[in-house]
Amino acid sequence: MSDQDFIATVPLDAVPPGKTKAVTIAGRDLLLCNSDGQIHAIAALCSHADEPLACGRIRLGWIACPAHGARFDLETGEPLTGPASEPIATYPVRIIDGMIEVAA
Ligand code: FES
Repeated sequence: MSDQDFIATVPLDAVPPGKTKAVTIAGRDLLLCNSDGQIHAIAALCSHADEPLACGRIRLGWIACPAHGARFDLETGEPLTGPASEPIATYPVRIIDGMIEVAA
């Protein structure tokens, strides 16, 4: 992953712990998630029925889909509980000068 692959999105303080922020990068709709200070970038839609994950509850490294409750590991995108059986995409994140940068 080279420096050119990373694109600045929003300031770190725009995504407080337990919150999400929707961003679009290179035509992809992503969701930035803050789990206990750790920032993750994931696909904006659930793999179960394409519902938005934006209002999902974030806890201990996972996000719960608000539609039917599937939980996804924020690091790997793997489903931790049903009804989802497919992973969601995750993207590399770095923080540079207080900005969240994502490679998508
Ligand atoms: S759309 Fe997310 S669990 Fe059904």
